[in-house]
Amino acid sequence: MKPQTFATIVALIPYVLGFPHLANFPEHRSLAGLSPEEVRAVASQFDSMPGAQPLPPPISDTSSILVNDADHPFIPDQPSDLRGPCPGLNTLAAHGYLPRQGVVTPGQIITAVQEGFNMGYHFASFLCYSAFITDGNHLTNLMSIGANTTTKGQPTTGIDTHGHFEGDASLTRDDAYLGNNFMFNQTLFNAFNESAAQVGNGMITFEAAALDRAIRINDSIARNPEFSFETPRFLGAIAETGFFFAMFVNNQTVDNEKPLSLNDAESFFGNHEFPQGFYRRQGPYEFPMVKNVTYTFVDMIGVKPGNNNGVNNYVVNPEDPMTFCYFYQKQVNLTASLYPNPTGALKQAIKANLQTYYETLGDPTCEQYFPYGQ
Ligand code: HEM
Repeated sequence: MKPQTFATIVALIPYVLGFPHLANFPEHRSLAGLSPEEVRAVASQFDSMPGAQPLPPPISDTSSILVNDADHPFIPDQPSDLRGPCPGLNTLAAHGYLPRQGVVTPGQIITAVQEGFNMGYHFASFLCYSAFITDGNHLTNLMSIGANTTTKGQPTTGIDTHGHFEGDASLTRDDAYLGNNFMFNQTLFNAFNESAAQVGNGMITFEAAALDRAIRINDSIARNPEFSFETPRFLGAIAETGFFFAMFVNNQTVDNEKPLSLNDAESFFGNHEFPQGFYRRQGPYEFPMVKNVTYTFVDMIGVKPGNNNGVNNYVVNPEDPMTFCYFYQKQVNLTASLYPNPTGALKQAIKANLQTYYETLGDPTCEQYFPYGQ
């Protein structure tokens, strides 16, 4: 049979099975919310279904090297490129460290964030799977670094799915309740100018980063009646303040001592472009350091996890332990609620990905959860 004829027949399967709305299902769209019959109808359209895959090996050279190099030129986003709320991943795609279109495997993300930014292997794997298990496609092993959008005429999911990994009080993107939760917002970015001027001598120092983080949280408390700031978002939002300080600074030292310039910050957050002559940090930004920096910011800012009950009415949740074990537990619970009754290859892939996710924590004191049995 000619390949074209075969493709035409495959495209007809969802119609034959009674699910015309699932024709042209994008390979990177999450399968959450689909019945086993619907999963079968969409799976028949996928070119390849590798299912869960093992983690890639870590990179071997973690020294500081020039990453804005001739092999990785910046190319402005094309109309078909998917971009989302993460300036780190957007930059890696715009420079070709990730597939430029923005449809990626977890393995590609884990390798690219090490190569481009020297994010530590274990932490990178944890972060990547935190998003993949809720927003990725467990059968095709693909995800989109972009927003929820339309691909091939079909709605599709991205890492901006609100309340999964993406959440409120972002530094440069609006709360979903207030506006666009994945596009750069200059007004929000201006809080960096304000904090750098107030406490950083015009630079984004550690103190300026903490002040900026606090300004953005207080802004959400003041304007978003549905502001939600519990773990995992609580830890994620504060950890991300450490990210730009540790990884957007040219040739950053192991001790994270150098401040970030406002121009370089805007290059990443706004344009998704490495500054000219950018060297990645020296030494990986790995779990122990990430925890240290994150909890230092937590102490400096003095905020606790909680939710708004109407604007300017922030209610702290004393039950939230603010730990990475709890972060993991919440993401597993969310995955189980998104996939209440998976069957066959899908169930197998989710179980394997949850196992990988637990291993990325690298902390045997964290309790492991098995929503689909051991
Ligand atoms: C390892 C895989 C990664 C995943 C899955 C990921 C995912 C995300 C997501 C979903 C957000 C949106 C959170 C929100 O604001 O609601 C985000 C924000 C952010 N990410 Fe990433 N990210 C990754 C790696 C990185 C890297 C390597 C960097 C820096 C080098 C980075 C820097 C940031 C920063 C600074 C923000 C905050 C943006 C803002 O608040 O405006 N991320 N990331």
